[in-house]
Amino acid sequence: MTGAVRIAASILAADFARLNEQVEAAQGGGADSIHVDVMDGRFVPEISIGPVIIDAVRRSTSLPVDVHLMIVEPDRQLDRCVRSGASSITVHVEASHLHRVIQQIKDLGAKACVALNPATPLVTVEPMLGELDMVLLMTVNPGYAGQRFIPAVLPKVRQLREWIATHGLALDVQVDGGINESTAAQAVAAGANVLVAASAIFQSEGGIEASVRRLRQAALAAEVRK
Ligand code: DX5
Ligand code: ZN
Repeated sequence: MTGAVRIAASILAADFARLNEQVEAAQGGGADSIHVDVMDGRFVPEISIGPVIIDAVRRSTSLPVDVHLMIVEPDRQLDRCVRSGASSITVHVEASHLHRVIQQIKDLGAKACVALNPATPLVTVEPMLGELDMVLLMTVNPGYAGQRFIPAVLPKVRQLREWIATHGLALDVQVDGGINESTAAQAVAAGANVLVAASAIFQSEGGIEASVRRLRQAALAAEVRK
């Protein structure tokens, strides 16, 4: 474990007409990073946002900007993402020549993370664990905010946490998709320490700041119970 649980606020469910204000609210509520979901209409069905928005987020916050690339040929976009202000970049194992792309991200000075879809086995990332800053275990099929958490991913979270302990590594375990107070608790209990949430932060009752705080409470309570 690399310290307390961290919350990454995914702007995919934010109101883009008020992006600056909403990113500031997420930071005000105690979010630890801002997560930007880049989709190309090929790796996933939808086209979402890209470097122009990474740049806008960078100017709206002092928090790290965590860029999740759901695109084919991610190596072609790394330089542009880092120049726009990405602090960490996540590429999908299903879309990458992993060893090369990880090296490229590190050479650009960003943190390197690899994401696995729910049906992708953990062994696909095992040879690279020592090179990574974070592994993202998708808890929905990538492509949309507002989907339902897939509990079948939890054994992978547990297994990854075990491997990290066994090998004495320090990487973060991030989960993304369908995270709310209840699923956050399940993910933390299984060993996740970075929680990505879009709908539960930007579209929940009570406002953005309070929602970040509630998620953190749920995560902390689950950590204490471990
Ligand atoms: C899904 C994206 C997620 C998404 C999460 O493909 O990678 O980051 O924004 O949305 P929620 O939290 O609403 O499931
Ligand atoms: Zn994401």
